[in-house]
Amino acid sequence: MDFVRLIQLVLRHKWLILAVVSVATTATWFGVRFRGAAYQATATLMPQEQALQTLDGVASLSNSLGAQDMRNISLQMRKSRMESLIALMMSPRVLGLLIERLGIQATPADLERLIQVKQVTSEVIRIQATAPTPEMAADLANGLASTFVQFYGDLSTTAVSESTKLLNEREAQARKELEACKTAVEKYKASRQISSLSEQLSGTLNRLNAVRQAREGTSAQLAELEAQLREVEAQLARTPEVVRVEGARWLWKISYPQYGVTSRELVLPVGRRVRFDVTATDVLHSFWIPAFRMKIDAVPGMTTRVFITPTATGSFEDNFHFRLQCAELCGLGHNLMRSPVRVVDPAEFEAWVARVKAP
Ligand code: CUA
Repeated sequence: MDFVRLIQLVLRHKWLILAVVSVATTATWFGVRFRGAAYQATATLMPQEQALQTLDGVASLSNSLGAQDMRNISLQMRKSRMESLIALMMSPRVLGLLIERLGIQATPADLERLIQVKQVTSEVIRIQATAPTPEMAADLANGLASTFVQFYGDLSTTAVSESTKLLNEREAQARKELEACKTAVEKYKASRQISSLSEQLSGTLNRLNAVRQAREGTSAQLAELEAQLREVEAQLARTPEVVRVEGARWLWKISYPQYGVTSRELVLPVGRRVRFDVTATDVLHSFWIPAFRMKIDAVPGMTTRVFITPTATGSFEDNFHFRLQCAELCGLGHNLMRSPVRVVDPAEFEAWVARVKAP
């Protein structure tokens, strides 16, 4: 194509060329104006949400001007905005509340990790990679970073100091309450122990008094029983065994009126006083027990009495002197008037009485 032909072509389409150049110039001018607005927004608007909205608006306007890079950054901004909102939900204030509820002790360093500063850094790197120009990328990254750091920095410091203060106060209060509880428990224990000891003491004293009273009562009863026993013994001593002895030609009738017993044998309990009531039915006889060294007349029509207390056991089988012998010549059978005598233990005497008495 030669130069003349080019001139002809330009002249033929001069209005169209003029229109295209005018539009392009205007668009470029608007683009520069909005880029400046974007720098200003990221540099001066601290609240993150507002800054991101402004950046988004700038990006969409750039996109409408037809730049592919501007479309890319718009998508990037939308994604970043979503992530920022999620990060906001994980803000130190919310985390502080969660930490307080769960009773977790968190240091400021822990919170710094939780607000994900690294995530902010990666966002900055992504912006730098996709921004249309290096200058704009630097401005956007600076704005974003300062927004994050300031916003979360203030929040984290406040939240941590508030949480720490609250935790310290609650811990101090809990310690105070614990001490109060311990003191109260000690006091309660002490009072319970004292009262239980005094209860035990009074209980023991009561039992001791009861035992004393019982002992005194028993002593009194014992003394009374002993007196009764002595009385019985005295009565017993005053009340001798009675043996009725009746002489008849030529035998002795021996009977125990207290027991309703008659016998041909004279049985006596050792150590017990005996009263003999002696009489005769026909002629004069004489009641004589050689072992007892005693003798008394047996007279018809009257009763003679003699008291003795045998002091040793013995029997006719063993000792010839243990016999009841008539000592008065009373006829042909005088020498036949003889009965055996046996002195036994009182228990044996009782047994003998029972045996003789039995039908
Ligand atoms: Cu009777 Cu001798």
